Amino acid sequence: MKKISLTGIKPTGSLHIGNYFGAIKPALDLTKEYDARYFIADYHALNTVKDPAELEPSIREVAAGWLASGLDPERVIFYRQSSVPEVFELTVMLMAFTSKGLLNRAHAYKAAVQENLDKKNDPDAGINMGLFTYPALMAADIILFDSDVVPVGKDQVQHIEMAQDIAQSVNANYKKNILKVPQAVVTENVAIVPGLDGRKMSKSYNNTIPLFTPENHLRKLIMRIVTNSQCVDEPKDPEGSQIFLLYKLFASKGEQDALAARYRAGGMGWGEAKEELFRVVNRELAPLRERFNAIYADRSGLDRILAAGAEKARSIAAATVKRFRKTAGID
Ligand code: TRP
Repeated sequence: MKKISLTGIKPTGSLHIGNYFGAIKPALDLTKEYDARYFIADYHALNTVKDPAELEPSIREVAAGWLASGLDPERVIFYRQSSVPEVFELTVMLMAFTSKGLLNRAHAYKAAVQENLDKKNDPDAGINMGLFTYPALMAADIILFDSDVVPVGKDQVQHIEMAQDIAQSVNANYKKNILKVPQAVVTENVAIVPGLDGRKMSKSYNNTIPLFTPENHLRKLIMRIVTNSQCVDEPKDPEGSQIFLLYKLFASKGEQDALAARYRAGGMGWGEAKEELFRVVNRELAPLRERFNAIYADRSGLDRILAAGAEKARSIAAATVKRFRKTAGID
């Protein structure tokens, strides 16, 4: 039997090229070797997105984004988290084995508390229980599907470690391996995609290039990438340039070598480098964008795909919950 790969994307805001290289592509690569279960973590998004006019299109965008990027729903079990109520049943069961101290140590929660303290606010200000229990819900997402590996960015590794802890506590209590202990898979080399301002591309820095943005907007964003003030004639260091680091994600080896040589020779201005970057980015994203627009527009088609995925997901999920309930004496 093949091993199982599982991951989820939280639908908050638009998908950007950091998500594509850091999450979607590595996860899709694993589908060659693994049985994959990929989903849209919409209940995780609810912790922060309270406006339905924002959440609903975001869910559809992530769904259409996975499909446009090549996810084959015949081969991958593809679903919305909220369509699998067993996730929540398992969350409650896991919480009985999750120490409060473990959740106190979660980076995202600690950062929120620290921000309150820095502002001299009440430490709990603006923190909902969804944020506090986020790692337990995520552990349920993972454990429910007997996941072996979880492809994630570095920032999520702590959550996977917590899922391991929780699964191990359950197994230790019942002296039986009833839950699979998952492993994180982090794609090191592509984990950091630079944003428009040179920092890591991230929604929280507002420096992203949205994956499916129209061509003219894509060009505008690329022209906005921050550069240093070197003039046209000066030789430039490719590896120290945001433009070149992004270029490497989209260009062939030959193209990379050619652009690097032009950097080093001098005589090329930043505007020209940006044009060349735009050319290769658009070459890769144009067909993706076209597929995305068609899938996004076909609402009922998308709903059908997700409903079929949810049905498959629920039959696996029900078996895990049943196993746990039986062992726990709740059946
Ligand atoms: N927390 C993840 C993120 O913000 C999304 C997520 C939710 C997830 N559940 C998951 C990722 C389960 C992997 C496995 O990126």
